[in-house]
Amino acid sequence: MSASPRRGFTLFLTGLSGAGKSTIAERLAQSIQAEYQRPSTILDGDIVREMLSSGLTFSRADRELNIRRIGYVAGEVTKHGGICICAAIAPFRTARAEVRARISQLGGFYEIHVATPLAVCESRDPKGLYKKARRGEIKGFTGIDDPFEAPEHPEIAIDTSKLAIEEAVKKILALPARDGLL
Ligand code: ADX
Repeated sequence: MSASPRRGFTLFLTGLSGAGKSTIAERLAQSIQAEYQRPSTILDGDIVREMLSSGLTFSRADRELNIRRIGYVAGEVTKHGGICICAAIAPFRTARAEVRARISQLGGFYEIHVATPLAVCESRDPKGLYKKARRGEIKGFTGIDDPFEAPEHPEIAIDTSKLAIEEAVKKILALPARDGLL
């Protein structure tokens, strides 16, 4: 008799631009491959906005649609026993709650608040966008003149200005491991 099918899960990283979501996502994928010999799919905001959500703006409605699309794809991966790592700002609670509700029915779901303080994200400013937002050249930038609704009950919160990335990755992977999904 064959083994029962493996249950998939999604790691959903939410946080400000520059918080460290993409870096953590990459490192999570590497660790999952190296330690558990399992591939994973990364849905990174910047790439999704090029490949799945091109044409969407940063209005509330479009950000929600963007997150709904990410949630849909993550759900498909999870449903088939895969591992999906999402890394998007996802600033709105309602959209995140919708994704959680959907994916929780299909497999594991872990919301990870990459809670690096705004001042740190702004000092990193890897794309120079905070500077532009402060100068008023970008309107509606998350954290500057657009809201980020912090998760109230994330499975875990990580502040990359206080915790080394290796430690963050270990802490995050302990969650699906605890639940028997890794
Ligand atoms: S989300 O709000 O819809 O979840 P997403 O994660 O896809 O955002 O994209 C965020 C990236 O888009 C940021 O890292 C930044 O590079 C870029 N960006 C461009 N305009 C904005 C804006 N107004 N607010 C936030 N990020 C923006």
